[in-house]
Amino acid sequence: MTAVVRTREELARARAAAHGSVAVVMTMGALHEGHATLLREARKQADFVLATIFVNPLQFGPNEDLARYPRTFDADLAVCEAEGVDLVFAPTPEVMYPHGQPEVTVHPGALGEVLEGAVRPGHFAGVLTVVGKLLRLTRPDLAFFGEKDYQQLTLITLMVRDLELGAEIVGVPTVREADGLALSSRNRYLSGAERETALSLSRALRAGAARREPAAVLAAARAELAGLDVDYLALRGADLSEDPVSGEARLLVAARVGTTRLIDNLPVHLDGATATEGESA
Ligand code: PAF
Repeated sequence: MTAVVRTREELARARAAAHGSVAVVMTMGALHEGHATLLREARKQADFVLATIFVNPLQFGPNEDLARYPRTFDADLAVCEAEGVDLVFAPTPEVMYPHGQPEVTVHPGALGEVLEGAVRPGHFAGVLTVVGKLLRLTRPDLAFFGEKDYQQLTLITLMVRDLELGAEIVGVPTVREADGLALSSRNRYLSGAERETALSLSRALRAGAARREPAAVLAAARAELAGLDVDYLALRGADLSEDPVSGEARLLVAARVGTTRLIDNLPVHLDGATATEGESA
């Protein structure tokens, strides 16, 4: 039976009564199989599993989809029940931000200004601020985040390291539909035709990930994105450093399909070789 708490006091009481290792899965609700996978992983690795459901206004820009972001609490709770979650913390904005818009937020540094950060100014300050607060309130041993939001996962890992927040951050591979589409709460905005178009993102990533040389990776991916409204296609190191040449790297893409903005990424292995004829862009 999953208990639900909504205030800090209720959370503190329930958290104090938890025995053994504690894992948290932070979500904005609209739970899908990707979240269920995070919860399942948490269930495997910890004695007590806590899920948070909070649509965080601080990480949405003025022209983004905060108002229309799906809110499906009853269905979310059913997912948590099915995955054996012990406790759900579902605060209101007033509970999370009792003093209104915070004066002080977490600065994500240079990595917060590129890729998603370049298109969504202030987004990662909003994410890191709420994640920092939720880590402080829930005091987990482990916190699980999806690789789908790879830059977010990287920044949270750096924040926890640099600010010595104590929890171990665990990344979980992206869950996909059979045809490759990465699961996302925003997929429900897509019409049938838009969903077909959206498949270009995972197709592009797979085409790129099949190559081993940076220019060839990018060229193969770009070819699959022709005609799409692409925000960025980028090849970075596994730690999101610039200009990787060899070893594990990450290919990331963001594009708009209709009014919906989608992101996706895949690991790529670079072999350090220079492009040969027919391989480069
Ligand atoms: O990935 C998300 O759903 C959100 O960015 C998170 C980590 C729950 C913070 O609001």
